[in-house]
Amino acid sequence: MGGHSTYQPKSAAEKWLHERLPIVELVKSSALDFPTPKNLNYWWTFGGILAVMLVVQIITGIVLVMHYTPHVDLAFNSVEHIMRDVNYGWLIRYMHANGASMFFIAVYIHIFRGMYYGSYKAPREVLWIIGVLIYLVMMATAFMGYVLPWGQMSFWGAKVITNLFSAIPFFGEPITTWLWGGYAVDNPTLNRFFSLHYLLPFVLAGLVGLHIWALHVPGNNNPTGVSVKSGQDTVPFHPYYTMKDSFAIVVFLILFGLFLFFAPNYLGHAINYEPANPLSTPAHIVPEWYYLPFYAILRAIPDKLGGVVAMFGSIAILFVLPWLDTSKVRSGNYRPLFKGFFWIFVAVCIGLGYLGSKPPEGWYVTFSRLLTFYYFAHFLVILPLLGLLETPKPLPSSISDDVLAKKKPALPQGQAVPAE
Ligand code: HEM
Repeated sequence: MGGHSTYQPKSAAEKWLHERLPIVELVKSSALDFPTPKNLNYWWTFGGILAVMLVVQIITGIVLVMHYTPHVDLAFNSVEHIMRDVNYGWLIRYMHANGASMFFIAVYIHIFRGMYYGSYKAPREVLWIIGVLIYLVMMATAFMGYVLPWGQMSFWGAKVITNLFSAIPFFGEPITTWLWGGYAVDNPTLNRFFSLHYLLPFVLAGLVGLHIWALHVPGNNNPTGVSVKSGQDTVPFHPYYTMKDSFAIVVFLILFGLFLFFAPNYLGHAINYEPANPLSTPAHIVPEWYYLPFYAILRAIPDKLGGVVAMFGSIAILFVLPWLDTSKVRSGNYRPLFKGFFWIFVAVCIGLGYLGSKPPEGWYVTFSRLLTFYYFAHFLVILPLLGLLETPKPLPSSISDDVLAKKKPALPQGQAVPAE
């Protein structure tokens, strides 16, 4: 799974531990010495960024729980207490709320990177499928977290989304009652959401462990999509990628800091600063930005059950993506037609996100239907056909050849750069 281990315990204590638990050797061979393609660009730093964000969410979440009360009569005020009275409570809470958004920004870039470079193709299908599972668990976790402050949008968001299950024929009603823990969104609902919101990040951490394991079996894909052929194509993960990832993490944390310190409520909804009121429905019930494309798909279909099926289907389809894309070439850099369709697909997802934020009326509905149709056509028609019809560009014979071809010839020593 890792690179060839060169670990030799030096001190007596290291030797003692090594004979009982060779953990230092494992870390060295599977992390530090891990042979990594030498041409990874910055799009490959988002996995590391995601790992950091998961840790940020878990630590800030644990501190928040020290002052939060999961009860319908107390939850809203306990969050206000955190914001006003607890030392640096505002910082911890804003970190957690904006951290969730940053986590999703990173995961969307990470997913689209995988789609562009064909990282889901053989032999990385299981790695991809675990990724889709992670994404589903992330969405469930964030949804339940948003309910906890028990503001207006928390309550009505929970009501709308849990109510979707009532569209399931025959079992819909009992399933919804079971989810709520009663006959309405109430204290038992808040309690179980709190319990699961605390549990799921640790499930995520376990899934991330599997994800990295599944990455270390075939190793990383790379921007050419061409498999590693020799030792010449790779460098050890440390120090090359520990440095590159650290730099990207710092830049990403600066962006996080900009939201945190200058616009901490920009991505939220003002109405969630009003306590939940089951007797007053807000004019517009809108989920957090990272759910908006799926919300648009849900509302694009005129039938409730149809909308629910389309919404879940739009995520489920990602599980079978490795088998829908028929092209033998991985990287979009060598697929001229795919490249165009990839960017159209990105634009369609952003368009759906925009439409999800609008009321379901007039042209918004018409465009939501068109884009929903395109979303599914991309996976079910375009990708399978492209692989058969497209003529890819010639691939480099190896990663090293590609890297060297891009390198400008070195000037002989002492020769000045010619003036332009
Ligand atoms: C908590 C969330 C996640 C974490 C911490 C995480 C972590 C990582 C890390 C550290 C890598 C190696 C570095 C890199 O390629 O960026 C990686 C690679 C990968 N991840 Fe994730 N990931 C997460 C979510 C996802 C999701 C949601 C998907 C897809 C739906 C996904 C698909 C992939 C794929 C296909 C690769 C291989 C990339 C390649 O070598 O081309 N990951 N992930």
